[in-house]
Amino acid sequence: MDTVTKTSPLTVKPLREDLPFGARIAGLTPENIMDPAVRQQLNDVFIERGMIAFENVEQTAKMQVMISEVFGPLKDHPVKMVERLDNDTLPGVITIRTDPNAGMVEIDGKKLLTWQPWHFDHSYNNELNRAGVLRAEIIAPEGGLTGFCDGIQLYNDLPEDIKKKAEGVEVVYSLDLDYSRQPYGLPKNFKEISGKGAALAEAAKAIPRSVHPAVWTRETGEKVAHISPYGQREIVGKSHEEGAKLFAELWDAVEATITPYFHQWEPGDMVIWDNWRMLHMATGCDPKYDRIMHRTTIKGDYGLGRWETEPKAPAAAADAMA
Ligand SMILES: [Fe+2]
Repeated sequence: MDTVTKTSPLTVKPLREDLPFGARIAGLTPENIMDPAVRQQLNDVFIERGMIAFENVEQTAKMQVMISEVFGPLKDHPVKMVERLDNDTLPGVITIRTDPNAGMVEIDGKKLLTWQPWHFDHSYNNELNRAGVLRAEIIAPEGGLTGFCDGIQLYNDLPEDIKKKAEGVEVVYSLDLDYSRQPYGLPKNFKEISGKGAALAEAAKAIPRSVHPAVWTRETGEKVAHISPYGQREIVGKSHEEGAKLFAELWDAVEATITPYFHQWEPGDMVIWDNWRMLHMATGCDPKYDRIMHRTTIKGDYGLGRWETEPKAPAAAADAMA
């Protein structure tokens, strides 16, 4: 991959030498980010590598929005109850914080806040946002990592029989993200101490479930394995039992194939990931620590999702909670 070019102010390196995805970029400033050549380079790296860890960038919401807008316009988060940083001047910047009321889990006897299983964002929506940009306002002194894995790597490395089984499979997802209704993707020795509250389950009842393909092909030709156990409910066209058996088989194979990268947050970091390609997770952190993250949502759609109530050809998308 490109490193420093004579004309670019950016330094571009692989995220880690042994990974087929991800890049690290240094040298991005509020001034050079407006340069069309820089913007093109960022988009090219993003398409090729699926995620970018920006290092030593200005830690402001304004810069987070500027970085996000290189890759597309911002969209507001589709779930109204999600906390916003400042909806008047920064629509689309949400806050994720260590809040015991937002759900606490226990893994191997350790209590954790902000833990999340592998997933892609907005699986419960008909429209999949293009990307997200994360920034840490308060970094926990231990834990609080964000894990990423690549759907292209997953597809390439899945056993051939699993690839065949996943072909054409459509997965049904719900906004009801309660772990008690999630049979896959939870670690051994997992216990939910407090749930995310009944409000999310109630909101889920007010909208249809969504449908997304298990495998899709990018414009650039690569196939992407893109399934998530978070909110997964059914497989289209199969009985609940048949669908559950197939999804368990697919997820077990995916989980065994994941080559993860865990981002340890440092001051000056911002991270963007391609939500059509990558899965991500949060390791959570000890409830005694504060951890505050801000995330933007970048608009776009891969055009392959739909509401369960719609026919297969995707219709023009409307936001879930608009
Ligand atoms: Fe997420």
